[in-house]
Order: sequence, then structure tokens, then C-alpha cells
Amino acid sequence: MIDANAWVTPRLEKIFSAFDSEDPVVKAASYSLFAGGKRMRPALMYAGTVALKDYGVCTDDVLSYASCLEMIHTYSLIHDDLPCMDDDDLRRGRPTCHKVYGEGIAVLAGDMLLNTAHEELIRLAMLSGKAAKASYNISHLAGIAGMIGGQSIDLESEGKKISLERLHELQNKKTGALIEAAVTTPYYLSDAGEDVLAAMKDYALHLGLAFQIKDDILDVEADEEKLGKSTGKDERDDKSTFVTLLGLEGAKAKLEEEENACYEALDYLSSKNMDIILLKELTDFNLKRDY
Ligand code: IPE
Ligand code: IPE
Ligand code: MG
Ligand code: MG
Ligand code: MG
Repeated sequence: MIDANAWVTPRLEKIFSAFDSEDPVVKAASYSLFAGGKRMRPALMYAGTVALKDYGVCTDDVLSYASCLEMIHTYSLIHDDLPCMDDDDLRRGRPTCHKVYGEGIAVLAGDMLLNTAHEELIRLAMLSGKAAKASYNISHLAGIAGMIGGQSIDLESEGKKISLERLHELQNKKTGALIEAAVTTPYYLSDAGEDVLAAMKDYALHLGLAFQIKDDILDVEADEEKLGKSTGKDERDDKSTFVTLLGLEGAKAKLEEEENACYEALDYLSSKNMDIILLKELTDFNLKRDY
């Protein structure tokens, strides 16, 4: 499989080398950003780019975008763990950011990661019209129409029985949106046709669901040490997930359904002679992962 950590982490380190390493906010942001993590979104962006290699885009072109997306994802995790959100103590195998640096600094560390990502996205956007579209794609999907919007529904749905339709909206936004950003950003830098974008979006929609359903299953079944975060939290917080709505077996069936829909979307890209091997590997990885 792709070693996305080896690909994107040096770029993130380079960005952080410009900051005052003694500043508590910089320390807190680095603590969370360089704690590991699967780097799934950079991996997907790399894989999406490889699929588009005959359409004028290469992995060097997307590295900065991948680093921005990983910063945004990490900010979302720091804020997600705060006592006012999911109140979590463990993340990426370490005490959560606010446990080590305090809540105020953790809020600012999240803000800093989000802002740094946008500074870089704006710098990139000035390079060309295509680059501007790629930057906007990430920015938009991270916002209220995407990840932030999903987190809003997630909090609002605690302790409630929501419809399956609303749950789809919740998961598509809170997790699916950044997965879509990962898969489709290379498209905006390419000269592929809109049919390719449609298939990539379809793939990302189903992978986003599959990814969050797997996360919800792991919250029940995983070994905490392997997972690097605490388990049993969704039930404790009375969260709305596919596991809490459909039960564990129902969620597993839904996971398989979504994985199969991913493979179908990939079949279309494959029929256009695109190299989907890496995307397929990441799809398989999600089904089997235990962390
Ligand atoms: C956790 O994301 C939050 C979700 C959106 C499910 P990841 O499972 O990608 O977390 P890291 O980046 O590997 O820590
Ligand atoms: C969080 O979903 C999704 C984000 C946008 C951060 P969860 O709350 O289920 O993620 P974990 O389980 O804490 O990683
Ligand atoms: Mg949450
Ligand atoms: Mg959480
Ligand atoms: Mg979870």
C-alpha cells in the first residue's frame, strides 16, 4: 500500500519549520499533527492522482493540497475531542491535545491548523485557474456544507432518534466531505471530463460512508491500544451512528453494501483505462482495518 506518511509528513514538517517552535500553540498543533494517524486522506489524494495520470496531473502537483487536507482533518480531531464536543482523552495513541496543553491552547492549535491550511490554499489558488478550483474544493468541503455541517448535525443528534436519511446526511458531511475532497481535488488540476468527476464523487460518497461506519463499528469492537483512541464512546454519549441505529450486524451489512458500491464506481474508472489499483487497495484496507 502507499506510504502516505512518508509522502506527506516531510511537507508538513517543512511548513512547520517556519513557525516558532517554542510557541505553545505551535507545540500543541505539532503534537497532534505529528502523532501518526493513518494519513488516509493524503493516501486517497495520492491514489486519485495516480488514477488521473493520463490526464495531466502528477503526485508532486497535489502534495501541498494533501498537506492542507491533513492539517484540516487534524484540526477537526482536536476540536472533536474537546470536552464541549466528544470529551475524549486519547487520540492517535496519545493523550488528547487539550489534556496536555489545556483547552484554550487546544482550541487555538485547531484554529492555527485550519488557518495555516487556508493560507497555503490561497497561495496555491493564485497559481492558476485550475489551482483555484482545487483550493476552493477543499475549502468548501471543510465548511458548513461539509465537515463542519456534519459535526453540527452530530452534536445536535446526541440523545435523539434520527431518521436513516438524516444519519446519511450527518455521515456524508462530517466524514464523507473530507474524503470527497481527497479523491476529487486532483480532478480539478487535471483535464479529465465530467464523467470522471461524477464517478470519483460517487466512489467518495460510498467510501466516506464506509469509512465512518467502520469507525462506528471499531468504537464498539476495537482494542483501544491498537485503535489509539478510547472505545465505547458513541453509546456513552448517545450518538447517532449506523451502529446505534441499525445494530452491530446491521452496520456490518451496510459497510459491505457501501464497499461494494465503491468497487462499482471504480469499475467505471477502470473501464476508461485509469489505474485504480491504489484506490482499490485503500478501499480493501478500510474494510479490514482494525485501527
Ligand atoms: C477519525 O479519522 C475521524 C473520522 C472522520 C472517522 P481517522 O480514522 O482518519 O483518524 P486518523 O487520522 O487515522 O487519526
Ligand atoms: C468525527 O467523528 C468526525 C470528524 C469530523 C472529526 P467521530 O467523533 O466518530 O471521530 P472519532 O471516533 O472521535 O475519531
Ligand atoms: Mg465526533
Ligand atoms: Mg469523536
Ligand atoms: Mg468515532
